[in-house]
Amino acid sequence: MRKPQISRFVFLCRRDFETYLHQELAHAKLKPAELGPGAVECEMSDFIPVYGRAGFRVIEKLPAAGTLEAWAADGLPLPQLPELPPGPGRWVVCNLGEGVTVLGDRLTAAPRRMKRDADTLSRAALKLDEALEWVGDGPGAKEVCVDLGAAPGGWSQRLLARGARVIAVDPAQLKLAHKKLTHVQDSAFRYQPEEPVDWLFCDMAWRPLEVAQLLGKWARHGWAIRVVANIKLPMKDKWPMLARVRSTMEEGGWRNLKMRQLYHDRDEVTVAASRY
Ligand SMILES: C[S@@+](CC[C@H](N)C(=O)[O-])C[C@H]1O[C@@H](n2cnc3c(N)ncnc32)[C@H](O)[C@@H]1O
Repeated sequence: MRKPQISRFVFLCRRDFETYLHQELAHAKLKPAELGPGAVECEMSDFIPVYGRAGFRVIEKLPAAGTLEAWAADGLPLPQLPELPPGPGRWVVCNLGEGVTVLGDRLTAAPRRMKRDADTLSRAALKLDEALEWVGDGPGAKEVCVDLGAAPGGWSQRLLARGARVIAVDPAQLKLAHKKLTHVQDSAFRYQPEEPVDWLFCDMAWRPLEVAQLLGKWARHGWAIRVVANIKLPMKDKWPMLARVRSTMEEGGWRNLKMRQLYHDRDEVTVAASRY
């Protein structure tokens, strides 16, 4: 593990995703350099990469006061925090491995590991919990959601728990029944809503570009106001596909689009956008 330079940005990523993070930063002309497993440094800018789960600007010493957070590269233990009196600013102490601990000025929130309770139907539910926290919003009671690729029902279960009405679309069986849940046992590519809905959710295990085209169709028809989708990206050449997914959704009419590989995302990324 190499020590990053003072004032450069460090982005942490999922282990084995350093190359993809590096590619994104290189495309943004930010002169990236891999530091070791799970960390890449680059020049300062306002660009937050999709594969950067969290980031900070490297500083030489901690200010006299502030809020301190313990961070670590993927799979490493969190470092001990020194005492710091309360004050403005959020500062990071990050364990990058092999004895390298650096200080930082926080650029993003830390990766968030969500808790799984006994009732949680699927691991996928944690992806939605984290995605809604990242979006900073979610459906409320009385809102209507469509959940494409819903089986076995982890996302739908979470949406129902928020009081929303859910139309779950998936040819597979749901392990869930609820008075506010309708299961359309069909392909999402054939489904059309009877009337526009508040939220579109999508966790379909399907080709990314075709999913992006489907989401674009939803925006073009005005069928949903907001979207949160998990896009599977199992291919080696991820950067061009990320760019195509983004442009396909934006051409469809989605605005304020943001994309990130969240803590619970494996070979996939989370996308959120709205039509206004
Ligand atoms: C990762 S699982 C979804 C997990 C779900 N979000 C949960 O929380 O339980 C992916 C789902 O996509 C569904 N799927 C694949 N192709 C589909 C299609 N064309 N239309 C609808 N669902 C599809 C699969 O049947 C599978 O249930």
